[in-house]
Amino acid sequence: MGCQFRRVAALRALLCGPRFQCLLVRPNSGGSPWPQERTLVAVKPDGVQRRLVGTVIQRFERRGFKLVGMKMLQAPESILAEHYRDLRRKPFYPALISYMSSGPVVAMVWEGHNVVHISRAMIGHTDSTEAAPGTIRGDFSVHISRNVIHASDSVDGAQREIELWFQSNELLSWADGGHHSSCYPA
Ligand code: PPS
Repeated sequence: MGCQFRRVAALRALLCGPRFQCLLVRPNSGGSPWPQERTLVAVKPDGVQRRLVGTVIQRFERRGFKLVGMKMLQAPESILAEHYRDLRRKPFYPALISYMSSGPVVAMVWEGHNVVHISRAMIGHTDSTEAAPGTIRGDFSVHISRNVIHASDSVDGAQREIELWFQSNELLSWADGGHHSSCYPA
């Protein structure tokens, strides 16, 4: 018993030492010392129909990101037209809008350090044939027109897209309560 207690104490001492600055509980729960970003991620109609919403959420949570907003909606054409405004002249634009409005999408806002860049890496190349195994598109998609998921491609783009898809009162800032502090070095 005493030995087990000493082992736990030693582990605590190691994790709370100067190098790790307490990986177990961060007293300043909720506030990260690292700059935080937000990004828009949307599971597209094919992803919803293929029951991939849970898988997507699990991957983002496991990576260490924080979900601060989520809703399921049949996207109105007004939102889609604004969202894809730069693609208006592309030959695939009509098909893209029609597909994106063909069923519900699940729009989410994820928060974390470098979340914009990391999300793009996690979802993989836009063209499914180029998407690496291990990425969401590389694991679940075979064609660019049914590529399961969208994620903002820049910090500015993310801000624009979040404001387009969400009202500010639909986003929640919540504290981690210390459970997640091991995602960040001290
Ligand atoms: S482009 O052409 O380089 O501007 O396009 P790209 O950045 O690769 O993709 C922009 C979004 O268009 C979608 N896309 C398509 N949808 C349907 N059919 C085809 N052929 C097609 N090509 C591109 C692509 O998935 C991107 O949408 P998001 O929502 O960002 O994934």
